[in-house]
Amino acid sequence: MEQIQSVKGFNDQLPDKVNKIKFLENTVSKLLMQRGFSEIRTPIVEFENLFKRSVGETSDIVSKEMYTITKEDNKSIALRPEGTVGVARCLLQNNLTNTIQKLWYNGYMFRAENPQKGRYRQFQQIGVEVYGISSVNIEIELLNLTYILFSQLQLNNSLTLEINSIGSIEDRQKYCEALRQFFKSKESLLDQKLIQQIEKNPLRVLDSKDPRVKELVKGAPIISDYISEKSKNDFNIIQNSLKSLRIPFVVNNTMVRGLDYYNDLVFEWTSNLSTSQGTVCAGGRYDSLLSQLGSKDTPAFGFAIGVERIILLMEELSLFNELEPKKIALCLMNTDNYIDGLLLQQKLISILDMEVMIINEQTSIRSQMKKVDKSNSDYAIILGSQEINDNTFTIKDLKIGQQQTLDFESLINYLKN
Ligand code: HAM
Repeated sequence: MEQIQSVKGFNDQLPDKVNKIKFLENTVSKLLMQRGFSEIRTPIVEFENLFKRSVGETSDIVSKEMYTITKEDNKSIALRPEGTVGVARCLLQNNLTNTIQKLWYNGYMFRAENPQKGRYRQFQQIGVEVYGISSVNIEIELLNLTYILFSQLQLNNSLTLEINSIGSIEDRQKYCEALRQFFKSKESLLDQKLIQQIEKNPLRVLDSKDPRVKELVKGAPIISDYISEKSKNDFNIIQNSLKSLRIPFVVNNTMVRGLDYYNDLVFEWTSNLSTSQGTVCAGGRYDSLLSQLGSKDTPAFGFAIGVERIILLMEELSLFNELEPKKIALCLMNTDNYIDGLLLQQKLISILDMEVMIINEQTSIRSQMKKVDKSNSDYAIILGSQEINDNTFTIKDLKIGQQQTLDFESLINYLKN
């Protein structure tokens, strides 16, 4: 009988991967909680209309990639393709839009994309959304926060912060008109599909991957010539603040982002490694999202991190060994030593910032060591009746293969160093 496989683009996460994901989740959540952000959880399903009204009917995410799963009261419902809009809906529904909200979330998103390395149909985002702060201080705080995160993960040298200002919604309408005029003059070079796309939303054409279109776009008007004095001024303040904070960045004036709700600052952290999927974190300001959903304009700014893409990058750079807590495998000579094993495990955990796992197998030390050698543990501690009587511990450094017997105090010093 044919074996049933997982659905394409929906991946299992095996324990080794989950450890890495947990490490990232813990690092990000600690950073956010230390700065007063609160976690929020919203459903993975929303009415389809919510995304159509906010992310944009012409965006790839809504027009091609949404999983619309069933009808409820004649309204289609969809698996969320992103998290920003669900949080907005939730704040409106719970009357939470009149005070400052500093929120974060962590969860699966769904897009029917063509799966490839770093691009999945079910993927995980950790997102941050701040409501109620109109000053660019919030842009600066969150850009700084992403910088601190990537420094902690030792990714700074492998990532570039790209920023742009796309102005207000009105500025963008003027810019779109200018783009339409520009492409009209090139109509003989365009196919019907592209002409239609330009009519509907010319911004989408700007980040086309088609080399022919890319070449054409090179001569197109640029958005910075169409944004208001206020937007230009805000963008300058942000750039100067990044310089004061010594955060390197580049201005990418063709970056418009693929979701319609943005205004003014947009940004992406992109990988410099050619082997990985470009963007690992992206966001921007979206002051009109709540009014698009039937409320009033409310200042908002946020971003989301692509968890799988960060993990891939950290794996490519072999960063996990350095950053993850060290792992100790505790091997017992025989089952009579089990209680002493448990007591030692508890003692080590309370003193050291390490993982200590008891190898709970009734096999010889030799076969336990064979198993441990193949695991990703850093040390093995062997505990037998002799060791318990002498209060000594045999420890093997599994990375260099060196073994020694130490008293408890020396063992702790050895592991701490
Ligand atoms: P986004 O650029 O569509 O923005 O996604 C944010 C990040 O999610 C991307 O930079 C990427 O790292 C990751 N990502 C997106 N699609 C996939 C995929 N198919 N497979 C793996 N990773 C993926 C948003 O979703 C906005 N909601 C971000 C935001 C929050 N803006 C304001 N607040």
